[in-house]
Amino acid sequence: MHIQWKKTFETDNILIDAQHRLLVMLFRKLDVSIKTRESETTILRIVQEVKRYAKFHFISEENLMYETKYPQVERHVTMHTHLLVELNKKLSKLNLRQEYPEEILEFLSDWLINHISNHDQRLAEHVGIAADRPIAELCYPEYLSCNLCNGKVLL
Ligand SMILES: [Fe+2]
Ligand SMILES: [Fe+2]
Repeated sequence: MHIQWKKTFETDNILIDAQHRLLVMLFRKLDVSIKTRESETTILRIVQEVKRYAKFHFISEENLMYETKYPQVERHVTMHTHLLVELNKKLSKLNLRQEYPEEILEFLSDWLINHISNHDQRLAEHVGIAADRPIAELCYPEYLSCNLCNGKVLL
């Protein structure tokens, strides 16, 4: 298993992409911690970090959906809820040593390929053309200092 950022993950929404990059970086961190045989406690802490950040990221995306009146908001929110429920189950199993961290990584990798590449891509396309704009989107370039922001027209 080798998780890393790929160009195909980019949605062209600078907020979503910035958060996805950080999410993938945390998946990578988990991957490295398994390969370097870190302690169970350390690996558990990293999975917690992934979980908390995923939860934060989902709320950010959901706010974007509400602000831009995304028609498929309910469906997308349900998928986020399922992903978190599944991740919580896996985390409890890991705690009880009923699951290997590699299985969590596998789950996260599938999520990345399926959810980000399909559903988040659709959301980003909607946000790109929505008449109702995300709150404070003009502030994004000031805070999201990455090359994704260069040359973007945000209006
Ligand atoms: Fe996402
Ligand atoms: Fe999503």
